[in-house]
Amino acid sequence: MVYERLLRPLLFGCSPAAAHDLGLGALGILDTAPMVRAIEMTLSDVPQRPVECMGLRFRHPVGLAGGFDKNARVPSALLALGFSFLELGTVTALPQAANPAPNIFRLPADRALINRLGFPNEGARVVAARIGARRASRPFSAPVGTSIGKSRAVPVDDESRVLADYTDSLRAVLPVSDFVVVNVSSPNTANLRALQSADTAERLLRVLQAAAVDAGFPRMPLLLKVAPDLTDEGFDALLDVVRRVGLTGIIAANTTVKRDGLKTDAGKVTALGAGGLSGPPVRERALAMVSRARQALGSSATIVGVGGIEEASHARAYLDAGANLVQLYTGFIYGGPLVARTIAAGL
Ligand SMILES: Cc1cc2nc3c(=O)[nH]c(=O)nc-3n(C[C@H](O)[C@H](O)[C@H](O)COP(=O)(O)O)c2cc1C
Repeated sequence: MVYERLLRPLLFGCSPAAAHDLGLGALGILDTAPMVRAIEMTLSDVPQRPVECMGLRFRHPVGLAGGFDKNARVPSALLALGFSFLELGTVTALPQAANPAPNIFRLPADRALINRLGFPNEGARVVAARIGARRASRPFSAPVGTSIGKSRAVPVDDESRVLADYTDSLRAVLPVSDFVVVNVSSPNTANLRALQSADTAERLLRVLQAAAVDAGFPRMPLLLKVAPDLTDEGFDALLDVVRRVGLTGIIAANTTVKRDGLKTDAGKVTALGAGGLSGPPVRERALAMVSRARQALGSSATIVGVGGIEEASHARAYLDAGANLVQLYTGFIYGGPLVARTIAAGL
């Protein structure tokens, strides 16, 4: 209530990029041991709905999606607010800046966002060192994974460089991650989604699995994050790959390049330009993908549902469709800092 009546109007009075910086700044103040203890004492009634999957324990199923804390700046504050796990990143082997601004937009009538950030991050090594230092000074209270993507400077059609680039990132994050997400589904890195074609995805995943074994992390859970814009046939082919290579599981779904069924004026939406749409417009497709994945992969795979989750009924729909865990990003922007707790408590 306080968020929706007071803080959100203030934040939404700023550009989305400035609001994100303000939010991260505020979380940065909370991200110290005494502040985290104070939050934990104030919010002591942590919702308990335990989940076990991919060899990890979660106190409830509601986590933070990739892209919010790309540089691992505020993980302890995010966990203290009530997320049961975090996906940090996406990081790339080479540090890189965002695409030219403006690169993120609100669609309040749809409670949605469009972004074309393009993986701005400080680079896998720097971010991994930050996570490692954090873990060394005070262990995280819940599982924390890292998402890896392709560096912009590496062309998608140079497959050996692409594999080497992902492998570099993987090696950096392995020692500091409870799970690793292989992101081949952002619409904001040119042609990245070509890596979702079955043959290429299979080569990439086999190389990464071998690299994890070589680096001494044979049991590191690896999840593939997919786009909602895959056709059913394309998705089935990818699920076949996941099964064949014995990957831990998948995350469905990333943002969409489609603009169907929006309440926001179509002319305004077109004027915003390219980017990935997130929030409620993604939910129906992501839910269908979760159910399709569960049918194809059986009960042992881990399936994480993400897209348009704003309240407990949405999370429950994903769990009923076969997800082990759910995540949100846009719902955090519109629903405020305690949204994960509220959703978990309502499950
Ligand atoms: C501003 C923004 C940045 C994002 N960055 C990433 C990213 O770096 N890596 C990633 O895997 N997903 C990224 N996503 C996608 C989200 O993780 C999520 O898959 C998608 O937004 C759908 O969930 P939501 O409706 O709860 O936001 C981003 C989403 C937004 C809105």
